[in-house]
Amino acid sequence: MRLFLDTADVSEVREAVAWGVVDGVTTNPTLMARAGGDPEAILRELASLVAGPISAEVIATDADGMVEEGRRLAAIADNIVVKVPITPAGLEATHRLAREGIKVNVTLVFQPGQALLAARAGAAFVSPFVGRLDDIGEDGISLVADVVEIFRAQGITTQVLAASIRHPQHVIEAARVGADIATMPFKVLKQLVQHPLTDAGLERFLKDWQAARGRV
Ligand code: E4P
Repeated sequence: MRLFLDTADVSEVREAVAWGVVDGVTTNPTLMARAGGDPEAILRELASLVAGPISAEVIATDADGMVEEGRRLAAIADNIVVKVPITPAGLEATHRLAREGIKVNVTLVFQPGQALLAARAGAAFVSPFVGRLDDIGEDGISLVADVVEIFRAQGITTQVLAASIRHPQHVIEAARVGADIATMPFKVLKQLVQHPLTDAGLERFLKDWQAARGRV
């Protein structure tokens, strides 16, 4: 499973890229608004930091508007993927953009039927939202598992991008059920690195080393 960062914060991406674990980035209008500044400049910088896919979401809600915006976003860099919501207009835009060779990530997927339609329309990625389903008492990981199972059974090559990841266990579960990608906030990526026994173990190793050197 590949790991993407779910952020529009360039400094977070720069830091995580240095760890050698970032395969791509996803953004959305909320994350862009939070980052501030010029969205196009941010996307250009993200695209230069990470060789993999950088998802940039359209704001338009009608098909013509989404297609026009999608073309503009895709022209920013070769690795920009246009993110489109799963609505009837979003499906039409996905179909039209895919026919032009522009990669589309269909977002806000909350049930397997939406994922199936997105794949049929030509999406390169579909984004089932895990955390937001958990928030309403449903099982977000089951959705990811269902979509993975359906795509495998049907020979669908659209990649399953587990999104709305809230904690490390979501990442592990997404990997267990076979998601192609998990996208997560930088906070979750940092949590994945940490374990209290790692910290305690390192402290002990260094203390023992210093103590032995003191005896020489
Ligand atoms: C997906 O690509 C979205 O940007 C993101 O994962 C949404 O996460 P949230 O539900 O934590 O806002």
